[in-house]
Amino acid sequence: MKGKNIIVGICGGIAAYKTPQLVRLLKKRGANVKVALTEGGARFVSELSLATVSEEPVYGKIFPPMGTEKMDFTRHISLGEWADALVIAPATANTLARLSAGLCDDMLSALFITLRPDKPVLIFPAMDGQMFLSASVQRNIATLAAQRCTIITPESGELASGLCGVGRMPEPEAILAALEEQLLGTKASSPLSGKKVIITAGPTREKIDGVRFISNYSSGKMGFAIARAAAKRGAMVTLIAGPVHLPSPPGVERLDVESAAEMYAASEAFFKNCDLFIGAAAVSDYRPAEPYNGKMKKDDEQIELTLIKNPDILAGFGMQKSPDQLAIGFALETQSGLGNARNKLAVKNLDLIAFNFFDRKTSGFDVDTNILTLIERDGETTELPLLTKDGAAERLLDAIEQLCLKKAVKP
Ligand code: C5P
Repeated sequence: MKGKNIIVGICGGIAAYKTPQLVRLLKKRGANVKVALTEGGARFVSELSLATVSEEPVYGKIFPPMGTEKMDFTRHISLGEWADALVIAPATANTLARLSAGLCDDMLSALFITLRPDKPVLIFPAMDGQMFLSASVQRNIATLAAQRCTIITPESGELASGLCGVGRMPEPEAILAALEEQLLGTKASSPLSGKKVIITAGPTREKIDGVRFISNYSSGKMGFAIARAAAKRGAMVTLIAGPVHLPSPPGVERLDVESAAEMYAASEAFFKNCDLFIGAAAVSDYRPAEPYNGKMKKDDEQIELTLIKNPDILAGFGMQKSPDQLAIGFALETQSGLGNARNKLAVKNLDLIAFNFFDRKTSGFDVDTNILTLIERDGETTELPLLTKDGAAERLLDAIEQLCLKKAVKP
């Protein structure tokens, strides 16, 4: 970090109390640090502390105080030009909204706009879990992520509100590591880099007649989060998606299918040539035996629908896979969860299964969070806390990376 110019943006959240430590760590690494403090941030951490540790004046309001120094009304532009990177920690819901709307009513928001487009911006949202998961915060995060910002999902744990959940700002050491990774590319290359990864996601639709189908509530969010995270780690990802309303993650090849049979056919084409198969789709187990051509009439009081079993895509891969391929599955359960999940791991010949406890509010279908328990072939079991689906995808991929490394060291 020697000689790098870093701006630390600090907003009005309780986690701001950790930021003088972040500034000190950056200074110790030889970085030049300037602090942009919002009005709310200044309520939690003093300008004097930050000026002392950064050895620079702290920037708050956009206009310089009248008559006290040489009037310079272009400081936001010179700051934007000076910076090699901007780190905003903690980022509050209010600042996320102001940045995503393009407001520039204080120094932090103004210099954000003037920053050169090739300079990394790392944003660490930190707030109450419900606030973080609210539609407006998620929308603003998506807007900023679609620009050039890297948004780091907050950690899960005890919050200042006294509640437990998603929303904690990572420790200053972790923020420094993330910045170094972005700025200097220091992270060791992922074992997933260059690997061919096939991911199934979303529901399937099984035709009853020309206008009706059997399906489930799967949104595809978990599978898409895994695809996004795997592509970020350098994997070559093919995402085979059932009918969902989600944009394609960057750098991912996407194939859209409708029925389980179509999903099977699309997947099977990759069975031989992939390194990793991740079945995150909620595939319909059965399909109508003889879908009706056209629209069925409602003349009868009662009708019978004969359903026949769909092929199991993941089990198909599990049975055929070679010793250097990995099969990963999900088990969404409402009862006898772990036992059923372990059973599926064995029956489908998987290397890892993510047991997904079903709870309508926090985990399972069509919510933004998940609680996963990862079970490996040797019985090793890791219970993950409540995380965003992006956060859960990262932890799942961390575990898969370990499996890749274990395979690589085998004689
Ligand atoms: O047996 P169950 O459907 O609960 O298993 C869930 C796992 O198997 C998921 O990973 C799912 O994507 C996969 N699966 C599949 N094809 C099916 C049914 C499930 O790939 N027909």
